[in-house]
Amino acid sequence: MEKIILTGDRPTGRLHIGHYVGSLRRRVELQNSGEYDKIFIMIADAQALTDNFENPEKVRQNIIEVALDYLSCGLDPAKSNLFIQSQISELTELTFFYSDLVTVSRLQRNPTVKSEIKMRNFEASIPVGFFTYPISQAADITAFKATTVPAGEDQLPMIEQTREIVRKFNSIYDEVLVEPEALLPDNEACMRLPGTDGKQKMSKSLGNCIYLADTEEEVKKKVMGMYTDPLHIRKEDPGHIEGNCVFTYLDAFCRLEHFEEYLPEYHNLDELKEHYQRGGLGDVKIKKFLNNIMQEELAPIRVRRAEFEKDIPAVYEILKKGSEAAREVAAQTLSEVKRAMKINYFEDEELIRAQSAKYASEGK
Ligand code: TRP
Repeated sequence: MEKIILTGDRPTGRLHIGHYVGSLRRRVELQNSGEYDKIFIMIADAQALTDNFENPEKVRQNIIEVALDYLSCGLDPAKSNLFIQSQISELTELTFFYSDLVTVSRLQRNPTVKSEIKMRNFEASIPVGFFTYPISQAADITAFKATTVPAGEDQLPMIEQTREIVRKFNSIYDEVLVEPEALLPDNEACMRLPGTDGKQKMSKSLGNCIYLADTEEEVKKKVMGMYTDPLHIRKEDPGHIEGNCVFTYLDAFCRLEHFEEYLPEYHNLDELKEHYQRGGLGDVKIKKFLNNIMQEELAPIRVRRAEFEKDIPAVYEILKKGSEAAREVAAQTLSEVKRAMKINYFEDEELIRAQSAKYASEGK
C-alpha cells in the first residue's frame, strides 16, 4: 500500500513555534526522508471559517502567511503538495455523504469539539458547520487516502472519528476508504509547548507566542522575558524545572551539540537541570542559552521567508498548482465513493440495461 501523508492548519494567524515543534519540523523531516509516496499539506480555510465566518478577511489574509511559513520551514512544493481546502469542492461532497454515518451524540462526545464549544462560549448557539467539522476533517483525510496524519495530540479525537467513519463506510458500502494513523511528536515537550508566560497554550490573544516570522530582536526579548520559577528568586535558591518554560523549551529544542557550542561547561540537559534544582544557576544564563539555540533554529527559516516574500505571486501560483493536483486526487476518491454508494447512475450501463430489461418484460 502507498504511504500517504495528509495534514494541515487553519489559517487564522501566522504559525508559531508551537506549530513548529508540534508538527511542522516533523513534516519537513518526513518529506525529506523519502519514505512517503505522496504528501498533501492543506491550508484549512473552510474549516477556519466554521468559527470565523464573520471574519472572512482574516482567513483570506492568513492564507499567504501560512503558505510563507510552510515554505520557509522547508516544505518543498516539488515534494509536498501544498493546497487550499476550499478550492477542492469534492471535499464538501464527501462531507455531505459521510454525515449520514455520524450521529449527533457522537459529535457531542468528541473531546475536541466539546472543549472548543466551551472555550468559545458557543453553548446552544453552535454553528452547524462548526459542530460537524470533524466530519469535514474525515473528508480531508480520506479524500487523499492518507495513511498517516502528522498532528498534535489535540487532533487525536478527529483522527479517531475519521477511523470510525472509514470503518462504517467500508463495511456498509465497499472497501474504498483507508484508515489513517496519527503520527504524534515523539517528545512530550513538543506535544504541548506552553506560552512564554507559562500558560498551557500558546495563543495569539494571550500574546504569549513566538512566531516563526519574528525578528531576531523579538525572539530575544520574548525569551529573556519568559516565565521561569517564581520561587527561584536569588541565584543560590534551588529552582524548579516543572512548569518552567525555559526548561520545557529546552526539552523541545536543545540538542547535545548545542552544549559544546554555547554552554561547554555542561555536557547535557540533565546536568543543567540538576544544577538549577540544586541552586546556583541563574535564569539569565539559561535564557541566554535558550536564545542562542532558538536563534540558530529560526534564522534559516527567517532568511528563507524573506526570499519567498519577494515573490508573492509565485507563492499563490504554488498553491494554485497544488490545489489543481489535489483536486484530481479527491475527484478520483469521490467517484469511487459514489460508485460504492450506488449513486453513479449515468456511468453504470449495467443498471440502465437491467432497468430496461425489467420494463421490457413488464410491458409484455
Ligand atoms: N484541525 C486542524 C487544526 O486545527 C486543521 C485540519 C483540518 C487538519 N483538516 C485536517 C489537520 C486534516 C489534519 C488532517 O489545525
